[in-house]
Amino acid sequence: MLNKGMSIQGHIVEQERKHPNASGSLTGLLMDLTYAAKVISREVNKAGLVDVLGMTGDKNVHGEEVKKLDEYANDKIFNAMDHGGHLCIMASEEMEEAVPIPDYYPKGKYVLLFDPLDGSSNIDANVSIGTIFSIHRKISDGNDGKLEDCLQKGSIQVAAGYLIYGSSTMLVYTTGQGVNGFTLDPSVGEFLLSHQDIRIPERGRIYSANEGNAKFWDAGSKRYVEYLKEKDAETGRPYSLRYIGSLVADFHRNLLYGGIFLYPADLKDPSKPKGKLRLLYEASPLAFIVEQAGGLATTGDEDILDIQPEELHQKVPLIIGSKTDVLEYKSFYSENKG
Ligand code: AHG
Ligand code: MN
Ligand code: MN
Repeated sequence: MLNKGMSIQGHIVEQERKHPNASGSLTGLLMDLTYAAKVISREVNKAGLVDVLGMTGDKNVHGEEVKKLDEYANDKIFNAMDHGGHLCIMASEEMEEAVPIPDYYPKGKYVLLFDPLDGSSNIDANVSIGTIFSIHRKISDGNDGKLEDCLQKGSIQVAAGYLIYGSSTMLVYTTGQGVNGFTLDPSVGEFLLSHQDIRIPERGRIYSANEGNAKFWDAGSKRYVEYLKEKDAETGRPYSLRYIGSLVADFHRNLLYGGIFLYPADLKDPSKPKGKLRLLYEASPLAFIVEQAGGLATTGDEDILDIQPEELHQKVPLIIGSKTDVLEYKSFYSENKG
């Protein structure tokens, strides 16, 4: 029985009880993750006061400037998760290769994929940022985690979630039994249930896209966004444009209010052949969450959760949000496909 104000520990144990043969390892994994989240939240909330703003001077595998807080968050999560005995391998946006758990630590049956800090370009401007995570079961032989354990379809994720470091710090996650949100109460240092059984409205009145790239989108995406701007009382158009530039923040608002987020492929920029967002630790976990909340997530051609990953940092176009809106997008996309 879930009740408002319930701690996340209590909730996770409740979820575990629904799986009679659960070993408690997923519970331990998720608890270790919430610890790392509290530490990152503390650092993010005082970022302006300590030397974690600005750049490290390095570039990541995507050729993007690495912010100090990107690296800080990556290290905090990695060091909180590598010795608990629940994982066999970890992969992160900020690490070029997947990192198996070393022999001097106990190894487990789960895989953790994460974006340690999403929305990095917003850090120095004090705009909401987040962390995204995806958990899979180990499928390879032997005790050691391997790349194949990371390259699994989103449809078989064990759990997925995100942290959003905003006006409050929230954790939203699913283990396939619906979506629940927990707000960090700094006075007790606990995440407490604040958003029970989140359902995304069938249709929203908001669209989120970086229209600065619109000239380089496919015809369907362009026509769909223009359609959203036409007046139509029945469908509530014109929609409002809300774009924060932090995927987690844009996604979270649309999850609660309804709406559609679009990051289509950018046909001009060969470095972004498939859009900018990464499948394994951005699109796939959020697709699991949105479908559990009654929404949809697609590339236009296929559901995000059906994609068989080929490589760790592969990118996909991401259109995600309210069911009716995503279905309308898909009709524009397929009708205008070259
Ligand atoms: P990250 O900070 O993890 O690299 O993610 C940034 C992503 C995502 O958060 C956001 O939706 C998108 O970049 C914004 O891209 P544009 O600045 O091209 O709109
Ligand atoms: Mn990101
Ligand atoms: Mn990131």
